Amino acid sequence: MKDVDFLVVGSGIAGLSFALKAAKHGKVLILTKANEDESNTKYAQGGVAVVVDKEDSFEKHIEDTLIAGDGLCDREVVELVVKEGPDRIQEIIDYGTNFDTTKQGMYDLAKEGGHSESRILHYKDITGFEIERALLEKIHSNPNIEILTHYFAVELITQHHLGQFVDKRSDDIVCYGIYALNTYTNSVEKFLSKVTVMATGGAGHIYSNTTNPVIATGDGIAMVYRAKGKVRNMEFIQFHPTALYKPGEYPSFLISEAVRGFGGILRDRNGKEFMDSYDPRKSLAPRDIVARAIDSEMKKSGDEYVFLDITHRSKEDILSHFPNIYAKCLSIGIDMTKDYIPVTPACHYMCGGILVDYYGKTSISNLYACGECASTGLHGANRLASNSLLEATVFAHRIYIDAIKALDSIPVPANIPEWDETNTQLSNEDILVTHNLRETQKIMSDYVGIVRSDFRLERALRRLGLLHEETEDFYKKTKLSVKLCELRNIIQTAYIVIKSAMKRKESRGLHYTTDYPVHMDNPTDTIF
Ligand code: FAD
Ligand code: SIN
Repeated sequence: MKDVDFLVVGSGIAGLSFALKAAKHGKVLILTKANEDESNTKYAQGGVAVVVDKEDSFEKHIEDTLIAGDGLCDREVVELVVKEGPDRIQEIIDYGTNFDTTKQGMYDLAKEGGHSESRILHYKDITGFEIERALLEKIHSNPNIEILTHYFAVELITQHHLGQFVDKRSDDIVCYGIYALNTYTNSVEKFLSKVTVMATGGAGHIYSNTTNPVIATGDGIAMVYRAKGKVRNMEFIQFHPTALYKPGEYPSFLISEAVRGFGGILRDRNGKEFMDSYDPRKSLAPRDIVARAIDSEMKKSGDEYVFLDITHRSKEDILSHFPNIYAKCLSIGIDMTKDYIPVTPACHYMCGGILVDYYGKTSISNLYACGECASTGLHGANRLASNSLLEATVFAHRIYIDAIKALDSIPVPANIPEWDETNTQLSNEDILVTHNLRETQKIMSDYVGIVRSDFRLERALRRLGLLHEETEDFYKKTKLSVKLCELRNIIQTAYIVIKSAMKRKESRGLHYTTDYPVHMDNPTDTIF
């Protein structure tokens, strides 16, 4: 058992940024389920959208974010993220992150879909890798921060574990910490804390085709939902238009939107540019529009991909901006300086998540959520490219401000029982987990993808129901394993996505349904 001031689950940009700040006021423990750097953050390519250029303005970035969000952003949140962004990014730079500069010593600002200005700070095409490196280096030199790797957070500890009945999402629920599986000893340990921050990232693996690394299994959302916390707008799943098409590769490798920002053109199998028939912004329209256009082109042609063409840029330029993407393509025989790149949409980002207020507070007392697992109101129905890393840093700071104010008044939790694993046995049927995982991902990809309908959603829900029942039954009888817990979380998260999609009787942003193809007049958030 461990007892700390601040317990952070997750070691991506959200968890690490918060930890570095909180460590000035108390002991911080970070639990993370894989190697310390394994996270969506590490794979971020394009960069961080932030207003640093004189030609740019807060108003333009705010407007671009609101347009991409298609009428469902919380304007106050958009304004605070955009305006607080430059200070937070300066902190990331002060921690030691490098961003590319021009020969004149100015930041080399890139452009991505939906941005009216070039405002993306980047480090080549491996921005996330560079940020994660710098943050971890800072973390290692801080004596107030401990990081435990390969610890899998299983459940939030709430009154439920004290034998009290927690029924409704409106009940006053309190978080006392986390039960986590120590994967070295295969035992569940108890971690008590005054303040807990969920920073568990996204849920790309609810689909068969995703750009997310394998850690993205919706754990934080599922844990909070099971503890009767509130989640919001989970129907808005962002499919990135351009994942590299390579059958059998899982997860998919991303071809950054920055390639289109650099002039890349989407073409059909005959080499014809097609985005001009969908949107005046062509290949640089917001992601929901481009992904739907590609989906429609693929349905028309029967092909599993379209092409991205950047061959008109010089080899030197391509190599200096996209060395990682160039090397990856070359490794499978595609020379992007001469060849078109086959691309296909893949699940990329979860715009909804754990409902939080303007200081990252969830509906559960003493529990905050930050980064991709949180729904702050910034993204609305569709996230603007490169706003995610920015949001994580801004909210890590806001959570820190709120949490240190509350810290002294939060009692150290007592009388919390150990994890109860009576009546469970080691399993010799792990294959069930693998099969149920594949089935869940296929159901989601087949019926809850870019284009939806009532019929498809109902079919998905019925099929998922059976998998849910089987998996819960297996879970109750079986000693915990990471794979089993992840499957449970994936099914739980997929369920919320389907239920949220069913509740939205309109098409908006990333949620497009053939039964309700237009906007409603007064859209509301979907909250469960
Ligand atoms: P993550 O970075 O995903 O970190 C989550 C952490 O939680 C991980 O350490 C994970 O191991 C841990 N964890 C999860 N579950 C558990 C559990 N049960 N127990 C313990 N630990 C757990 N956004 C941009 O703004 N710009 C970009 O250029 C960009 N490019 C992207 C490219 C790719 C390929 C991908 C996948 C995403 C990209 N995004 C980009 C999105 C962005 O990277 C993520 O939204 C952001 O990094 C999320 O940060 P996070 O800290 O919330 O989560
Ligand atoms: C990309 O580089 O295309 C990803 C950017 C993002 O997801 O914000």
